[in-house]
Amino acid sequence: MNGLRPATLDDAAGIEAVQRSIGPRVDDWVQVIEHDPDAVLLVADHPEAGVVGYALAVLDDGGTDYDGELVQVAVAAEHRQQGIGGALVAAAMRQLWEAGGESVRAFVVPETVAASWLVRAGGRVFAEREVVRDGARFTEVGLGWADMRDLA
Ligand SMILES: CC(C)(COP(=O)(O)OP(=O)(O)OC[C@H]1O[C@@H](n2cnc3c(N)ncnc32)[C@H](O)[C@@H]1OP(=O)(O)O)[C@@H](O)C(=O)NCCC(=O)NCCS
Repeated sequence: MNGLRPATLDDAAGIEAVQRSIGPRVDDWVQVIEHDPDAVLLVADHPEAGVVGYALAVLDDGGTDYDGELVQVAVAAEHRQQGIGGALVAAAMRQLWEAGGESVRAFVVPETVAASWLVRAGGRVFAEREVVRDGARFTEVGLGWADMRDLA
């Protein structure tokens, strides 16, 4: 059984460990938790394993037609396909909605589990961009939802 709850400073290392397990990118989670009060950062807390997943969402149009962004969602490999990722996204979207957002976007790498899931969940492709991160160049597509409650 996983509890979903807002991240606290004590979760920073656990969030970083999950992030490191999915790729080279590492964010400053202490900074997000301490200094970005508008960021919605939720963790899935497993009774034995601790933090096994997280979702980060923000209310910021980023120059697009969408009010907010689902910035990241990640679940540790051994805890996937149990509904944790979906539950994290749903809870984050409910929080963005309560904060006044209506529409939301997410950027994903095409042909990944996340991309096919989010397209099935109603995401409409509105943009494509080239990203260079950690020396690697790849394409991301922007998916948008007019009503973020489609993900909640
Ligand atoms: C994407 C990710 C967060 C999903 O986490 P999860 O806990 O397995 O998700 P859930 O069990 O809640 O499943 C969510 C959806 O993905 C689908 N899914 C999950 N794993 C899948 C797989 N291996 N193959 C096909 N579909 C899969 C589920 O069926 C579900 O879709 P549905 O709502 O249409 O039924 C997880 O795979 C992950 O961390 N991936 C690496 C990081 C990443 O790609 N993040 C997204 C960047 S925005």
